Amino acid sequence: MGRWQIKNLSLQRRFFLLSFSIILIFSVAVTATLFVAQKNKLEQSLLNKGTGFARYVSSVCTDALILKDTLQLDALVAVVHDDEIIYTVIEDEQGNALTTTVASLNSSQAKLKPYLDQFPPDAPVGTVIKALKKELDVLEVSQRIMVDSSVQGTVRVGLSEHNIRTQLLRQTAIVLVGMFFMSLTLAITLNFAANRLVLRPVSELARVADQLTAGNMAARVTSTSVAEIETVCRSFNVMAERLERDIGELKQAEASVRLAQESQEAILNSMPDLMFRTDRDGVIVEFHSSQMSLLYLPPEQFMGKKIAEVLPEEAARVVMEALAEAEKTGTHRGAVYSLAMPQGEMWFELAVTAMGQPCTGFILLVRDITQRKELEEEQQRFEKQLLHAQKLESLGVLAGGIAHDFNNILMAIMGNAELALMRINKESPAIGNLRSIEQASARAADLAAQMLAYSGKGKFIVESLDLNRLLQEMLHMLDVSISKKAHLNFDLAAALPLIEGDATQIRQVVMNLVINASEALGERDGTISIKTGSMECDRSYLNNVWQNEELAEGRYVYLEIADTGCGMDKDTLARMFAPFFTTKFTGRGLGMAAVLGIIRGHNGTLVVDSEPGIGTTIKILIPAGQQQPDVHQPPAQPEREYWEGAGYVLLVDDEETVRNIGAEMLRELGFSPISASEGGEALELYKSVPGIRFVILDLTMPHMDGDQCLGELKKIDPQVRVVMSSGYSEVELQRKFSGQHVAGFIQKPYTLSALRKVLRDVSPDT
Ligand SMILES: Nc1ncnc2c1ncn2[C@@H]1O[C@H](COP(=O)(O)OP(=O)(O)OP(=O)(O)O)[C@@H](O)[C@H]1O
Ligand SMILES: [Mg+2]
Repeated sequence: MGRWQIKNLSLQRRFFLLSFSIILIFSVAVTATLFVAQKNKLEQSLLNKGTGFARYVSSVCTDALILKDTLQLDALVAVVHDDEIIYTVIEDEQGNALTTTVASLNSSQAKLKPYLDQFPPDAPVGTVIKALKKELDVLEVSQRIMVDSSVQGTVRVGLSEHNIRTQLLRQTAIVLVGMFFMSLTLAITLNFAANRLVLRPVSELARVADQLTAGNMAARVTSTSVAEIETVCRSFNVMAERLERDIGELKQAEASVRLAQESQEAILNSMPDLMFRTDRDGVIVEFHSSQMSLLYLPPEQFMGKKIAEVLPEEAARVVMEALAEAEKTGTHRGAVYSLAMPQGEMWFELAVTAMGQPCTGFILLVRDITQRKELEEEQQRFEKQLLHAQKLESLGVLAGGIAHDFNNILMAIMGNAELALMRINKESPAIGNLRSIEQASARAADLAAQMLAYSGKGKFIVESLDLNRLLQEMLHMLDVSISKKAHLNFDLAAALPLIEGDATQIRQVVMNLVINASEALGERDGTISIKTGSMECDRSYLNNVWQNEELAEGRYVYLEIADTGCGMDKDTLARMFAPFFTTKFTGRGLGMAAVLGIIRGHNGTLVVDSEPGIGTTIKILIPAGQQQPDVHQPPAQPEREYWEGAGYVLLVDDEETVRNIGAEMLRELGFSPISASEGGEALELYKSVPGIRFVILDLTMPHMDGDQCLGELKKIDPQVRVVMSSGYSEVELQRKFSGQHVAGFIQKPYTLSALRKVLRDVSPDT
């Protein structure tokens, strides 16, 4: 902390320090050079002085030297001492000092005194000089003493450099001080100039750069007088302006990128679809899902993996084909695949877009279309059912029409055969033929009844029925109809609600189903179970049964007939209700068609469950009626044969054959028949002939039908007794007639005994 560091210094200070140091170093170098030069110069002059002195001594001392006159030599050397000479010694050619220490040394020099005091006055001059040389800066000059070209001795003069040094030091100090101040002045001047010209603009540049960095984009450099720096400043300002503009644009771009990101995120969050991004090889690199429950696997299990590694084979194939297609054409839409999820099978639709050119990856949008798929399937099922219903409807119209006309013809055949049998001689061989005619026409009537039942128009007498009682009454008939190896099992629910229906037709249903069950068992042992009960059926249950349109929710009575027979494969199951579809050699294929027609006529439905080799269960559902069964029903009245009536009976029918045979039958029963071929004629006859006991009225006639005719007759005579006769009739009409308006019903083709029973039942006197 607080450590002084050069890098912390401002540029200006650094520049000052640098320039000052350089100038100072330069000054010192110059001073040193001067010093050396001066020193050499002073030393040279000292040497010259010494040499001159030595020469002088050598020239004057030759005689004394030759004479070895020590005293004179001493006198010579002692005279010439000045303050720069330390000693003067004369030596012989062997180097022995001939002068004494006292004479040789310059005793006038105060600084020698301490040294001289160390030696005794008679100490050898050589020893003393040696010691002095060690202690003092001594410059020694020697001059040989020549006599006739031969060396007689040497003069050695020791010179003190003390003066030179003192002089040099003084001069150097003066120069250094001068130099220092000059350097300082120069550095300050230089700094001032540099400051003005370069440093201040550079600092300014630095300051503005700092402000720009701190975000003050409006900061600019003020101009300066130096052209180059001015250019730099201008360029800097231009740069700053550009920077400001660019940063502004950058900020705007940043803002729009942020906005785009936010909106992208919002779009992805509001999207019900799953989004995946893969690379070109189908490796998943990114995903987005607002509903995690739509993910087939947890994200950590599919991120970074290939589609083929995470999806089941079939789904992966569909997706990879869509990617290949998108790579070729840019996009692909509509590929559909399914996945087994914990919540059940789910369907997905793909939209793929290839990214980049050439392709670098794909964006996959995956939509959950399970609901749509279910709706589509439901729709398809509904359309199929509708088509099927329409087919049944038109077939029904055809079958009904044929059966209606067929019944009229059959009535003539059956009636005539019956009458012929009554009137013919009992011994006649034709009796057998007539019986055959009767049997054949009974089978034909049965067939026509099945066809009518299939058309849904055979329902005639609607009454409240107890299904359990009806089954109990049929027990014997069922027993004899089924194979000897079949075991009949009953499981009848107690307190079964009543149903509204036609007993004959319900019997026909039971017979058809039980016979089919028995035929399914064939020659094998097996069980046929008949079960009844009642259940609440809601919409979801009714949506999954056969013929579900228009069925109301509520309580239904059911009859279930199950066998352990051969069962049905899918194909048979799909076609079993089709008229004339059979898998049996002797079958006509009308049984199930009739069952379906009857059940539809009763606003009911059925459920078939069949497994090849295991058996078949057919469940019939009929809406439960309001009434409860009366357990104390009176026993059925025994049939009374040979009943006869009397009086007029008006027989109204557009078919001549029916009129003829009807009239014959009436006559046979003791009545006097009057025939009319249509409603108008019937009204005329009823008015003109008094005492008509009954009117047998055909329901379907041209011009005025049975319904209208009944109304008119009631107007003429409210007490009129009308028996409605028909091969078939509309259900609604039956409902209307099943009340107080009509005395009775008779279904064509009718036999004499049937006619007798009806007329006897409606006769007031019976
Ligand atoms: N309980 C059943 N077990 C196995 N197959 C059955 C059963 N009920 C009906 N089928 C199949 O449905 C077909 C049609 O039955 P349907 O009763 O309409 O005609 P059929 O019995 O062949 O002839 P028909 O009843 O007119 O004499 C049968 O031929 C048979 O293949
Ligand atoms: Mg059958």
